[in-house]
Amino acid sequence: MKVAIASDHAGLELKQTLAEYAADVLAVQIVDMGTLSSESCDYPEYAVRVATAIVSGQADLGILICGTGIGMSITANKIPGISAALCGDCYSARMAREHNNANVLCMGGRVIGVELAQEITRIFLTAEPIMDVDRYLRRRAQIATIEQGSRGEDR
Ligand code: RB5
Repeated sequence: MKVAIASDHAGLELKQTLAEYAADVLAVQIVDMGTLSSESCDYPEYAVRVATAIVSGQADLGILICGTGIGMSITANKIPGISAALCGDCYSARMAREHNNANVLCMGGRVIGVELAQEITRIFLTAEPIMDVDRYLRRRAQIATIEQGSRGEDR
């Protein structure tokens, strides 16, 4: 599995820790899309990098970290095909994959502890979307319809 990861300056330290954890412990292939320095930067650029990598097929899943995870999740969810989930607990991380089929995990580097962030990452990257429960599929399809409508596509 290929996972694209990025952060702004506020998420840099946690991003580096999680990138190492995911590669060494979870044995996933990590594509680090920045930022690479602690200099202040703007999170939308990095959210778009990861979102684009997923939509283009360069990565299977993504991880985005800013101070709270909020700016990253708001931005990533603007990109068609992206379902970004801001998670601060293990249950939400599992549900985000199993029920919502989220493809990007967002976390707040100024909010969450390292060990909880690692556990959330492990769960998010190993849980599988449930594909045989009609109501989950129906709700995901409803979201896709809303997304298409907001792009002005024919319905
Ligand atoms: C940066 O100071 C901070 O605003 C940013 O990392 C993020 O928390 C925004 O949602």
